[in-house]
Amino acid sequence: MNTATQVAGVQLGSYVFNAAGPKDVTYEELQVIGQSGSSAITMKSCTIEPREGNEEPRYKDVPLGSINSMGLPNLGYKEYLRILPLLKNKFDKPIVASLAGMKPEDIPVLVDAFNESDIDIIELNLSCPNLKGKPQIAYDFEMTDAILRDVTKNLKKPFGIKLPPYFDPVHWDMATEIFKKYPIDFLCCINSVGNTLIIDPETERPLIKPKGGFGGLGGDFIKPVALANVRAFSERLGEKMAIIGVGGIKSGTDAFEFLLAGADAVQIGTQFMKEGPECFGHIDTELQAILKKKGYKDIKAAKGKLKSL
Ligand code: DHB
Repeated sequence: MNTATQVAGVQLGSYVFNAAGPKDVTYEELQVIGQSGSSAITMKSCTIEPREGNEEPRYKDVPLGSINSMGLPNLGYKEYLRILPLLKNKFDKPIVASLAGMKPEDIPVLVDAFNESDIDIIELNLSCPNLKGKPQIAYDFEMTDAILRDVTKNLKKPFGIKLPPYFDPVHWDMATEIFKKYPIDFLCCINSVGNTLIIDPETERPLIKPKGGFGGLGGDFIKPVALANVRAFSERLGEKMAIIGVGGIKSGTDAFEFLLAGADAVQIGTQFMKEGPECFGHIDTELQAILKKKGYKDIKAAKGKLKSL
């Protein structure tokens, strides 16, 4: 039994890999992911210029998950283009570039640059919630449509988009109508639930400093939101669109629920922060045991097989 899967025609040795964001900024961190059980290496969302990110404290673990307002600290896209061949030489697994524009005009520059590289997969982040004064792009359907129209014209790589959670069927419908128009290979659902607030009643302060404590929520808190988004898009877009599930996965059971909802693979964010690189291997081993016990011969056999009541 193994959990090998495919996303956008790219073969992944297992169902589980790292989400863009946690511990994936530097070459050292990316090598740790390379050596781990993660079936791909996703790099931190990169911008045109290097960024320090927001002020500290900007990430906090809590029992049910995490809250962050990192503000896209990253080395700038040119550095990730330099690191890419080093990773490709060293590790036999796909490399995923996550791209984030500080303004819409940045996005074609980033996509064009990685189109000409040796990257395996491009994930365009349309959902960073932590940039002061900037809305999450994917909540603006007109802008999302215009960006996708532009960047999908000359795609040379497997290409997908990282989405924020939507909370209303009308929004899933509207987003689906846009995504259907363009050659998008996969959706990655969901980014952290943006602009939430956790208060420490002892100190009477928020847990993180940027934006008055408002930040992106991850972990257990958001798993049902993530499952609903995976299911909603899987029902609307069918087999032709791959879906990567992310949000609150910390065990094989969680991964199995995403598989039933229709995910082709899952990414791990908060649990990687909490537990370190061992998380990928044990989530995958637990998933294998569940599939075996339930009599599913592989990932494909269980994908989208959520039963009705
Ligand atoms: C950051 C947070 C996100 O959820 C994201 O998608 C991209 C960047 C951040 O604050 O760095």
